[in-house]
Amino acid sequence: MDWGIKNRLSQLIQRDGRCFFMPIDHGYFQGPTSRLERPGETLKPLLPYVDAVFVTRGVLRNCIDPARSKPIILRVSGGTSMVGEDLANEELTTSIQEIIRLNASAVGMSIFVGSKYEKQTLANLARLVDECENYGIPVMAVTAVGKELEKREARYLALCCRIAAELGARVVKTYWCENFEKVTNGCPVPIVMAGGPKCRTELEVFEFVYDGLQKGAVGVNLGRNVWQNDHPVAMAKALRAIIHQKATPKEANDIYQEIKSKTKK
Ligand code: 5RP
Repeated sequence: MDWGIKNRLSQLIQRDGRCFFMPIDHGYFQGPTSRLERPGETLKPLLPYVDAVFVTRGVLRNCIDPARSKPIILRVSGGTSMVGEDLANEELTTSIQEIIRLNASAVGMSIFVGSKYEKQTLANLARLVDECENYGIPVMAVTAVGKELEKREARYLALCCRIAAELGARVVKTYWCENFEKVTNGCPVPIVMAGGPKCRTELEVFEFVYDGLQKGAVGVNLGRNVWQNDHPVAMAKALRAIIHQKATPKEANDIYQEIKSKTKK
């Protein structure tokens, strides 16, 4: 692996082999998502606890201070919306010049395996990998979002992750599921887990993150279950403890409850 790509990957995946990415990219198809109406304000208190931020160029330029940031994973696919015909009908939205200009440590884009737009989004991934590898920029493939998330089981997620890796993704983002080891075993590149819509309890989040890490994930790219929580900093600190300090779900929950009890909403 070339020095540049190794260096960028090491900005994302830390020396302990783990990572905590904070996605605030949801607006690119959802508009002003609840609690992400002002992405810069949502992100600011969380920044000390995360390793990288997943964001579009528009939010990056307008809402994030370039002098006080974390490594950036730039979201570079889109072109669809919640009210449009099909969320899977994505294109690449950002040029390689722009990716370099914004000093991205990596880029991220979605693939929609099993959808009408499977071929188009997989071809997008292959093209993006070709362009980015020329400049030592790793590509993170985002699997199984939108309608595709209904197929949240190991066989389907393993298929998505493996295809993404085969096409050249350096990191794959997917969802946790039962028998998650079947997903990680079949994927030769690091896997990070997203959170999906807000879970019923905090403990539920800590349990699936812990389980996924034991079964081979390297970390998370987990947004709504942090910043839609009434105590986002407590969530971020508790998740950081699981990811980087080997805390158990119970220990993480104790961290969360303790910080929550001391903070006013
Ligand atoms: C949405 C994304 C998000 O980055 C991903 O879903 C992670 O966020 P969350 O934990 O809120 O699901 O790709 O387009």
